[in-house]
Amino acid sequence: MGNEMKGQGELPLLFGVIGDPITQTKSPAMHTAALQASDLAGTYVPLHVKKEQLADAIKGIVALGYRGVNVTVPHKVDVMRYVDVIDEAAKQIGAVNTIVNDNGMLTGYNTDGIGYIRSLKEEAVPDLSGKHVLVIGCGGAARGIIYALLQEKPGKVIVANRTRQKAQELADEWAHLGAISACGMGELAQAVQKNDIDIVINTTSVGMYPNVGELPMPTELLTPHMVVSDLIYNPLKTELLSRAESIGCRIHNGLGMFVYQGAYAFEYWTGRPAPIEAMRTVVLNSLQ
Ligand code: ATR
Repeated sequence: MGNEMKGQGELPLLFGVIGDPITQTKSPAMHTAALQASDLAGTYVPLHVKKEQLADAIKGIVALGYRGVNVTVPHKVDVMRYVDVIDEAAKQIGAVNTIVNDNGMLTGYNTDGIGYIRSLKEEAVPDLSGKHVLVIGCGGAARGIIYALLQEKPGKVIVANRTRQKAQELADEWAHLGAISACGMGELAQAVQKNDIDIVINTTSVGMYPNVGELPMPTELLTPHMVVSDLIYNPLKTELLSRAESIGCRIHNGLGMFVYQGAYAFEYWTGRPAPIEAMRTVVLNSLQ
């Protein structure tokens, strides 16, 4: 066991996920399977923490000797105030979803964006360099993905959003990181025609259960050479993906993003390679 475990002695490793609400989370099942598959003695529990208790909860993580926690809605932004060090990517993205506790020193990371990109590369597009990518939406989820995507040196990234101004602000903020531009949904047809899009990524919640028939963009704009990806994994095949598939596009869903954001967290906490397939199987089974 590596230096990163120092101080834990023979005690089981403690992990959890902080959020409100927290009953629906699949992280405890996924990480419990990961710990078992890796032969590590540890426990991962859901921790229901309200906004006004967040500061105390983080102090509790240190006091109780938790090795790490995930942070989910609604605390990903606020929690940044309570950690000692924030990883550069998390700082730029403006959200933390993973905390590592090194003997009382808390470091905050964002594994959502890198998790999604690892999933996209493993499962659909091994090399993103030079690709033309259309991202629908520019909220919290999109920020993580776009930041991680820009590290892969894509040819261009076009961010399309219902509120055009928000997409423009994001494109301006990260103009130094790569070729990024913005458009409104009304300009989408023109943007797709002009930019020879290779990959479409839906980062909005449009099409998520229970609104399963909804589409985040007109699918007439899709052509068979495109890879179409949706961050949603409930349902596994959204209406967007279903239509894209019938057009002949390669499709990619959000299940891998969830698995790989957890995988990165597991690797930061334990220093071990995450048992991806064991993790994926548990999440898949919980969805059926
Ligand atoms: P998340 O953290 O899941 O990304 P968010 O930060 O609230 O959530 O961002 C939601 C994104 O989805 C935004 O880009 C939002 O567009 P606006 O900026 O115009 O609000 C987009 N979105 C949400 N619901 C939408 C809908 N019904 N149609 C189009 N876009 C939608």
